[in-house]
Amino acid sequence: MKSNDSKLIKKDYLKKINLINRYNKAYYKNSKPIITDFEYDNLKIEILDLEKKYNFLKSDKSPSLTVGFKPSKIFNKVKHKIPMLSLGNAFNKEDLINFEKKICNFLSLKKNTIIEYSAEPKIDGISASLLYRNGKFIQGLSRGDGIEGEDITENLKTIKDIPKYIFNKNFPEEIDIRGEVYIGNKDFNSIKDKFANPRNAASGSLRQKNSDETSKIPLRFIAYTYGFSKKLNINTQSEFLKNLEIWGFRVNKYNNIIKGINNLMQNHKNLEEKRNKIDFDIDGIVYKINKFDLQRRLGFATNSPRWAIAHKFSANSSVSEILNIEIQVGRTGALTPVAKIKPVNIGGVVVSNATLHNEDEIIRKDIRIGDTVKVERAGDVIPHVISVDKTKRKTDSKKYFFPEKCPSCGSNTAKDFNEATKKHDAVRRCLNEEFKCEKIAIESLKHFVSKEALNIDGFGKKIVEKFWEINLVKFPQDIFSLNFEKIKKLDGWGELSVNNLKYSIEKSKKISLERFIFALGIRHIGKENARLLSQHLKNVESFCRLSKESNIEVLLNIDGIGETQIKSIRNFFSNKFNISALEKLNKIMKISGAALSKKDGILKNKTFMFTGKLNEISRAEAKSLVEQNSGKIISNVNNKLNFLVVGEKPTNKKVIKAKELKIKILTQDEWTKMLNKTS
Ligand code: IVH
Repeated sequence: MKSNDSKLIKKDYLKKINLINRYNKAYYKNSKPIITDFEYDNLKIEILDLEKKYNFLKSDKSPSLTVGFKPSKIFNKVKHKIPMLSLGNAFNKEDLINFEKKICNFLSLKKNTIIEYSAEPKIDGISASLLYRNGKFIQGLSRGDGIEGEDITENLKTIKDIPKYIFNKNFPEEIDIRGEVYIGNKDFNSIKDKFANPRNAASGSLRQKNSDETSKIPLRFIAYTYGFSKKLNINTQSEFLKNLEIWGFRVNKYNNIIKGINNLMQNHKNLEEKRNKIDFDIDGIVYKINKFDLQRRLGFATNSPRWAIAHKFSANSSVSEILNIEIQVGRTGALTPVAKIKPVNIGGVVVSNATLHNEDEIIRKDIRIGDTVKVERAGDVIPHVISVDKTKRKTDSKKYFFPEKCPSCGSNTAKDFNEATKKHDAVRRCLNEEFKCEKIAIESLKHFVSKEALNIDGFGKKIVEKFWEINLVKFPQDIFSLNFEKIKKLDGWGELSVNNLKYSIEKSKKISLERFIFALGIRHIGKENARLLSQHLKNVESFCRLSKESNIEVLLNIDGIGETQIKSIRNFFSNKFNISALEKLNKIMKISGAALSKKDGILKNKTFMFTGKLNEISRAEAKSLVEQNSGKIISNVNNKLNFLVVGEKPTNKKVIKAKELKIKILTQDEWTKMLNKTS
């Protein structure tokens, strides 16, 4: 081989090694992968092939030697019987007061009611769900996306804190015990050159291909809640925690039962002071309403329980310099300013971007390029600039002017006027009337294929950008007619990755109406509203018919859908590209109608409306009870309404109209009796 050739090969090889190490860092240190697994795996194979072929190629950073390898994707996916949700965050006393207020409102409790909480340190580890049947540990799942986890049973079995058999009499016949897998800080010290922080170490070890590898890492487990259960006779969280110990699990020794917000604040302060002396990382305290009956009544909002919240510890912060301010354009046209800062380590993570939120924030803080700023990062929240050190400002520094035109398409921008608050929004948006803003289109495509929408595995953000750039996709429907021959020839792609992508795309064609509506990315139509629309409209045909103005009005019947949402839906259907995309997608995809809500409850096929104040129960809880029993709430008196439930001081107009239409009117007692027939 000519020396020139070998030089070129070596250069190419080192370039690839550098690249893979950049990806490793993004994945392990920053927990933000910048390429897909397919791309990663291909790159790794290319490097290993080169090493095999040319034995003069060597690097101590080769993936054949480094420990920080990417966990393999060999684990089976299993659906959680009860989803593993996340928690809402509280940062200060005001947030806690609001949290308690909402609970009191929902449960219709008096203002001075004393609520008892189980306060538990929030361990910053990896959550796992352990299924026990007849006392035997059967299956262990990672959280995954909360709906589906990975079967990591064999790896979990290597953890000594996890009992494999439980013989106690009161141990439920079947139960998912949930808790946190973590590595103690002392133990982490001995392996710290291999991982960026204990959390990554726990995550990486849990997802090893070979459980012998996992057994070498000192993983620990602390239990704190449960998912599905059969024959669990316990009434409070504190009693549950005591039983966990009796059954052989470890629980957190800093758990406490606390009443009153002031005491919660005091406990938060005490623990935050102790934080550094505790042998595992905690990033806050979880408060759970202690009584299970209240927890059941409160139930869940879309992503988190109403009966619990995480009170975060104050964030880590560092000082850095703003190198530039970039304006990002989001899917809904929102212009978000982002400060590009000199990379700085904040609590173990290298941060080089910090959000400036919106134009008003820049004006209020008079933030400028070149400024020395304090940047804060709290757990999984996006880092943000808190303050400017004006003493460090150079004399020639210039005020920053927020662009008035969209940086992507040059259109005019504006801030919405909020009719309710009579104020302009803080967020400026691109007003592209022709729906041709490139950034909006790309961001919409990213949303369309994302996990919570079409969930196309291997179709990450970078790939959307690449495919857009080379004209492979412009509209959502293009995803279903990709030119795979062209893709195969792209850098980092091959037979295997193309086949995998084909498979995921094919799989995504089958979708529920709810997910489909969410995927369209209509402003103000998030997951919850998409669910409401899908339940009301029942099938995709009636959704498409909304393109006719007269059909949009019927949406006003849906409790939860207001003028804002309707205006946005109208706007969506006023765009001919959207209508054509919808028609094409409907032909290609198999969009299944709305699943009947909790199929066979006693209120099935019955519609309700409430008017006036109810006794001892809030409107929100009443609605939630109707829905739990398969009934439907509507918000207009018309001939679709079956029952009008009348409390104290009802709206007379509604009662009169209901009488005219011969709708059955129920007192609260009659309605309660109807419900009680359920049990
Ligand atoms: S209870 C419905 N208790 O925090 C959610 N979670 O943001 C019930 N976590 O994914 C969770 N310590 O990994 C609960 N004592 C504790 C916890 C805890 C840590 C984690 C957990 C969950 C996340 C929620």
